[in-house]
Amino acid sequence: MKTIQSWSPPPEKPVLPRSGELHLWLIDLDIQTVNLERYLSPDEHDRAQRMLRAEGSRRFVAARACMRKILADYLATDAGLINFRYGSAGKPEIVHPGSDLRFNLSHSGHLALLALTHQSEIGVDMEPLKQQPNLLAISRKIFGAEVQKTLAAMDEPRQKVRFFQLWTELEARAKCKGSGVFSQTDDTIPAVNFAPETGWIAAVASSRGIPQILEWLTYRLIPSD
Ligand SMILES: CC(C)(COP(=O)(O)OP(=O)(O)OC[C@H]1O[C@@H](n2cnc3c(N)ncnc32)[C@H](O)[C@@H]1OP(=O)(O)O)[C@@H](O)C(=O)NCCC(=O)NCCS
Repeated sequence: MKTIQSWSPPPEKPVLPRSGELHLWLIDLDIQTVNLERYLSPDEHDRAQRMLRAEGSRRFVAARACMRKILADYLATDAGLINFRYGSAGKPEIVHPGSDLRFNLSHSGHLALLALTHQSEIGVDMEPLKQQPNLLAISRKIFGAEVQKTLAAMDEPRQKVRFFQLWTELEARAKCKGSGVFSQTDDTIPAVNFAPETGWIAAVASSRGIPQILEWLTYRLIPSD
């Protein structure tokens, strides 16, 4: 599994992904900036207000606002003017005339990961390599007895990495389809694991295949005022 060693600073005017390209943005959500809320729509404000934990709410606002800002920069419009429609299980898509931009976001803790393509449906998931209680029992339930047996034969660190590789692949495929993680999965959707940072595991899945990791365009956004 590859670790992404270098994330470039964001370009001032990002160029839309071309056919077959994958663009990835890693976003730091805990940078204090003023008034990211200004980019959000009323329904997004409501969602943020309903969240019980202040930290979760703040990170949701940061992720949404940065996602809007990045999409808007690609489309040469204003972040507040981006409109989304939602699939039956909640997958957001851009409503923008003539746009072939596809995207998917994952956020966990202080990081978010945004993946973008041209026309090709995309799903992304990212998880910290945390302690997973009942890892083997969960694996049996989700991935079956054979996978559980393989994991049981590994030492603990390797077991944890393999578990989160399988888990993020499963989620990325589900998110590519726009379904829920516990609905029927589609193992035929190409998916690739990678480490966005040490201690994290991610997967990206895309219906028309995924370019070699060295060809990905990778940017890191540290929001500022
Ligand atoms: C989609 C899902 C797999 C995301 O899991 P997660 O690990 O908690 O979250 P992630 O951080 O990776 O992704 C969340 C982001 O993915 C996007 N998203 C939401 N639903 C999605 C879906 N069904 N497919 C793809 N992307 C989705 C959103 O951008 C969301 O960000 P937001 O929470 O800020 O709006 C999970 O929430 C799920 O299974 N949802 C489906 C629920 C369902 O089946 N509903 C049926 C209708 S009642």
